[in-house]
Amino acid sequence: MKIAIIGTGYVGLVTGTCFAETGNHVVCVDNNPEKLSKLQNKEITIYEPGLEVLFQRNIQQKRLEFTGDLKSAVQSSEFIFLCLPTPQGEDGSADLKYILGVADDLGKIFETAGGDAQQKIIINKSTVPVGTSKLVFEAIKKHNVKNFDVVSNPEFLREGFAVEDFMKPDRIVIGTKTRYAAERMKALYEPFVRQGNPIIEMDTASAEVTKYAANAYLAMRITYMNELANFCTKVGADVDLIRKGMGSDSRIGKRFLFPGIGYGGSCFPKDVNALIKTSIDFGSEIRLLTVVDQVNKKQKEVLVNKILKYYDNNIKGKHFAVWGLAFKPNTDDMREAPSVVIIKKLLSQGASVTAYDPAANETAKFDLGTTITYADNEYGALENADALLVLTEWNEFRNPDFGIIKAKLKQPIIFDGRNIFDPAKMRELKFTYFGIGRKPVLPTEGSKK
Ligand SMILES: NC(=O)c1ccc[n+]([C@@H]2O[C@H](COP(=O)([O-])OP(=O)(O)OC[C@H]3O[C@@H](n4cnc5c(N)ncnc54)[C@H](O)[C@@H]3O)[C@@H](O)[C@H]2O)c1
Repeated sequence: MKIAIIGTGYVGLVTGTCFAETGNHVVCVDNNPEKLSKLQNKEITIYEPGLEVLFQRNIQQKRLEFTGDLKSAVQSSEFIFLCLPTPQGEDGSADLKYILGVADDLGKIFETAGGDAQQKIIINKSTVPVGTSKLVFEAIKKHNVKNFDVVSNPEFLREGFAVEDFMKPDRIVIGTKTRYAAERMKALYEPFVRQGNPIIEMDTASAEVTKYAANAYLAMRITYMNELANFCTKVGADVDLIRKGMGSDSRIGKRFLFPGIGYGGSCFPKDVNALIKTSIDFGSEIRLLTVVDQVNKKQKEVLVNKILKYYDNNIKGKHFAVWGLAFKPNTDDMREAPSVVIIKKLLSQGASVTAYDPAANETAKFDLGTTITYADNEYGALENADALLVLTEWNEFRNPDFGIIKAKLKQPIIFDGRNIFDPAKMRELKFTYFGIGRKPVLPTEGSKK
């Protein structure tokens, strides 16, 4: 099958590469010249486990190519996937200018070719508010184009597990009005659901809402745990034990119950806001989500507040080591990362920071530039630091050499924003330790401020 991917970012590159891996011919389009030139030179543009091998193999086998020429890509393809940004606009809604701009371009391309789109299927993979498929349809149709379908096929991949999620999805959602488009989409996805996971057909509006509903629910679960963690801190309970006690209930389940320093990333914050905005616009505000968003913003301050309290509100001249910058492990994505909020707050109070992230040292420079220094490894970040802050739960941070940490830090103090260390072990090793929603391990005799 012939596929065009319009927008070759996280979703576009993974989608294009995985479709090529199942034998399709895929041409990926992007209008960012720097990104395009890297991709055309076989240089991968994102960090995503397992992607590079597939990327190289499919380029080699000439099933995956990259271009800036939208027209030729569209003309040679049956399936046209829109994997374009839908950033948050000023009022919280999703900004549709990229999607509708490309829809208009498609209309013009089909119009110039005589107006018959020859049963091409335009698929919206971006996360978009309810009603967008109709807008895309109208934007193309107004160029007197006939014989095309617009399908909503939201993407549920997780950064860090994107290839795995794409190759073995829990489900595929296909929103369409026509039997023809549904059958063609099913044929395209058939290799990915051989184990029996469902392809769920629905109308386009329901498909569009499904994506927001899933993301907002997950954001709400995390936020509930964050609020619970703050409550535990006050009452002397341990949220980690509560998490285990709750998660063992099969009605609740174990995943997405880890408290921390607030959710970030390119999806949850903007998707929660977009759903709030749409719900208000339609006169049916989902109030739970309004609170979720407010609580999440506050949660990004929780660790800094613990730090300020420990240092009696004076961190001027203190130097902090930061482990982890990306919004979550296994990605170099810094969009809405809590680390940025936390580090900026520390700097504004006169402290300095040296950070290390296994993948995001470079991408973090976009937000943090030279305001901090970057180390080549986790232990390098500890030199002359007054305390260690854990901001992303990378696996490689979970079992470090605590002897080295203790030797390098000026004082053995850890502020663990992701609860990756065991408080009992911290006590045994004589660290002063603060987690989220757990009893702190307070300074021992030997560790003074
Ligand atoms: N990143 C995720 O984990 C994820 C998961 C599921 C859904 N989504 C959704 O998928 C969509 C894309 O997200 P992303 O993270 O891949 O975004 P991204 O910013 O990484 O990628 C978008 C790409 O589109 C390109 N682009 C913009 N305008 C273009 C145009 N006119 N022609 C060609 N290319 C153009 C950009 O240069 C960029 O490379 C968003 O709606 C997002 O909410 C993202």
